[in-house]
Amino acid sequence: MYPDRVVSGMRPTGAMHLGHYHGALTNWVKMQAELPCLFFVADWHALTTHYDDPELIERSTWDMLVDWLAAGIDPSQATLFIQSRVPEHAELHLLLSMATPLGWLERVPTYKDQIDNLASKDLATYGFLGYPLLQAADVLIYRASEVPVGDDQVPHIEMMREIARRFNHLYGKEKGFEQKAQDAVKKLGSKRAKLYNELRTHYQQDGDDEALEQAKAMLDDAHSLSMIDRERLFGYLEGSRKLILVEPQAKLTASGRLPGLDGRKMSKSYGNTIALREDKDAVTKKVRTMPTDPARVRRSDPGDPARCPVWQFHQVYSDNATQEWVVKGCQSAGIGCIECKQPVIDAIIKEQEPMHERAQPYLDDPSLVRAIVADGNDVARKLAQETMRDVREAMGLSYT
Ligand code: TRP
Ligand code: SF4
Repeated sequence: MYPDRVVSGMRPTGAMHLGHYHGALTNWVKMQAELPCLFFVADWHALTTHYDDPELIERSTWDMLVDWLAAGIDPSQATLFIQSRVPEHAELHLLLSMATPLGWLERVPTYKDQIDNLASKDLATYGFLGYPLLQAADVLIYRASEVPVGDDQVPHIEMMREIARRFNHLYGKEKGFEQKAQDAVKKLGSKRAKLYNELRTHYQQDGDDEALEQAKAMLDDAHSLSMIDRERLFGYLEGSRKLILVEPQAKLTASGRLPGLDGRKMSKSYGNTIALREDKDAVTKKVRTMPTDPARVRRSDPGDPARCPVWQFHQVYSDNATQEWVVKGCQSAGIGCIECKQPVIDAIIKEQEPMHERAQPYLDDPSLVRAIVADGNDVARKLAQETMRDVREAMGLSYT
């Protein structure tokens, strides 16, 4: 009933690195060509953990936007905006909070994990507990169908699906819904009405998902129906409620993960990153000083790629022939580690060249980024306002 749409966000807490690029941005670049996409800077989310460091947020926001553009996010295809510039996210967050059980928030795995990991910070705050609910509002407000995220975020997407379902259940009621829905069925014409009723029964009695899909496809084609009747018929298929909010799907990043220089997860807090727009000399130096298989003390000692972070880089950056050369050369001590690292250095520098080029105009004239975001904020806000009209009405707040 609602068009497919992709929504994702990132927290502006520092410069983007190649881990972000391979973990998320390449996926965004691919999706922007396939579906309408909204990508936003989650500045309020950054405040949930960095509430004591407000200067960091603004600087990181602009840097991050340049990084996105450098990575190939194209503002003529995707909408780029800043979360706090669309205050409707906060309104939806507040309204959703009314009926969100505390237990749903407390059991999200990232909640306890982060409190333990960031022990130096006091995260026993109201804002931090509400983090996944704010994230739910970010997505539900655009009725997104897909959310590209890393696997650590899957529980958040699961929770937002539950939030949407609960919302529709609580507020999707409409006086005389059943009757209005049946009147709408008649408007389909007798043949299609019959088919609709059959498919609905199949789905509701036998859980036949194909029947549901078929019925939805038929409604998509039923152009003579008014918007509101169509909405009722979509809701009637699955129960006796209007669907005000849409349950989104997580879209996991397919590309291989790039670890940090030391083989752990690439992360600023581990000091093992290569920045997205790192300069060539720094890339060379960082890779040359990467740790290798600790068993290869001397050049003549054979090594094992499985124990070497450089090999993980080869798996992301090198073709089969090069990978074979590495495995053979390493295990036989036929190549040295410096030699082995060179193709990785070359590949990273080559990957980054177009990124530096794309970033340059925005570095020369930062007002370009401001203008892209101003446009994006407007586009996002309009969409968010449409949903909020329905949400307010459903919750008894329309005051007409
Ligand atoms: N929680 C996400 C992260 O830490 C960032 C985020 C905030 C997000 N809101 C979102 C991601 C909405 C996807 C959709 O990576
Ligand atoms: Fe690692 Fe390559 Fe050295 Fe083997 S030869 S230990 S894979 S850097």
